[in-house]
Amino acid sequence: MIFSRVRHQLAKSASPARIFSASFSTSQLPSVGRTLATCTNVFPERSVDIQTISPRSKVSIVGAAGNVGASVAYSLLHRHTPVDIKLFDINQKLLKGQSLDLADSAWLGESMVHHSSDLSEAGDSDVIVITAGAKQVPGETRAQLLDRNYKVLESILSKVQPIKKDAKILIIANPVDVLTALAQKITGLPYNQVFGSGTLLDSARLRNHLSKILNVRQRSIHCHVLGEHGDNQFVSWSTARVGGFPLDCFPEMKNIDKDGISTEIANKAYDIIDSKGATYYGVGVCGAFLIHHVLANTHDVRTISCYSKKYQSYVSLPAVVNQCGVDRVLEVDLSELEQEKMNKAVAHIKEQVGQFF
Ligand SMILES: NC(=O)c1ccc[n+]([C@@H]2O[C@H](COP(=O)([O-])OP(=O)(O)OC[C@H]3O[C@@H](n4cnc5c(N)ncnc54)[C@H](O)[C@@H]3O)[C@@H](O)[C@H]2O)c1
Repeated sequence: MIFSRVRHQLAKSASPARIFSASFSTSQLPSVGRTLATCTNVFPERSVDIQTISPRSKVSIVGAAGNVGASVAYSLLHRHTPVDIKLFDINQKLLKGQSLDLADSAWLGESMVHHSSDLSEAGDSDVIVITAGAKQVPGETRAQLLDRNYKVLESILSKVQPIKKDAKILIIANPVDVLTALAQKITGLPYNQVFGSGTLLDSARLRNHLSKILNVRQRSIHCHVLGEHGDNQFVSWSTARVGGFPLDCFPEMKNIDKDGISTEIANKAYDIIDSKGATYYGVGVCGAFLIHHVLANTHDVRTISCYSKKYQSYVSLPAVVNQCGVDRVLEVDLSELEQEKMNKAVAHIKEQVGQFF
């Protein structure tokens, strides 16, 4: 643990590649350097990895003292994406604690974590993640959060200035589809650079559920939750495929209550909130995953909150994620019933956005 803290401290002032590729005789080194040299011997395989990494991208997380922001940071620290993570929050005491604690876990990855009270330092980030805001309390809908969280969003974006021209903004705070649309309007950034976690978590929950029914690996299941993360989300069963085959070809799907599954997936957040007051590990992984796909330019397809030309609105749809943010939105053909649900979700998002712009 002491080694990891020393390495983290030294890496703040030099690239890890330099620190780990330098060759010293341990007797020539001051005590900290000797500790570090010992550290590279303890983890020889890591010193090889770290010599080859490229310069780190910068990711800022606003709201990082909270459950979701800290979980995004924690998940990101443990992906093999070298990132400089900067944490921000109005709760400075808690932020410092989270930052120091997270830094203690950084030795297992290629990334660094720092914190700051000056939001203008977030403006030159490659990705700015916003998790700040009030969270749902038991019985509260995501829509009821809107007023409170719009004010938080507006105040944050007015301080994160100037924003780098090609920065991407990832919104996770709820109601996520509406706040994503509002963030684009407040910043005036191009649509592709502003997106939200949308129904990514719900789609992951659905795949997890189906994988247990079908006994198939989740990655072979392509089935999406679309619409608006929350009360207006729906499963697009008509587009569902498993290993390339229609979901309904699978005998296990006979007599399955699809409406029951849709409701269970939509209510999962409420179940977790009832039991422990908040949900954060799942969405933390989703946030880190999206950041990785942007920085690594993977062109991965995920259901996120993105601007659809077809609907002239932000809404959760499958989109190609790459270094541009949203490379393109896949305007999928839906069944008649699903299309009705999509139209309802779009109308609801537009109505809420219309209260502010
Ligand atoms: N999109 C999803 O799938 C998903 C899933 C879970 C939670 N959420 C949402 O994420 C948000 C955060 O949830 P949480 O559990 O982390 O809540 P939390 O209360 O633990 O954390 C919120 C943090 O925001 C900070 N904050 C508030 N106003 C701020 C400001 N003006 N500037 C900087 N920081 C500020 C608070 O100090 C707090 O630390 C909520 O809106 C919640 O509904 C979204």
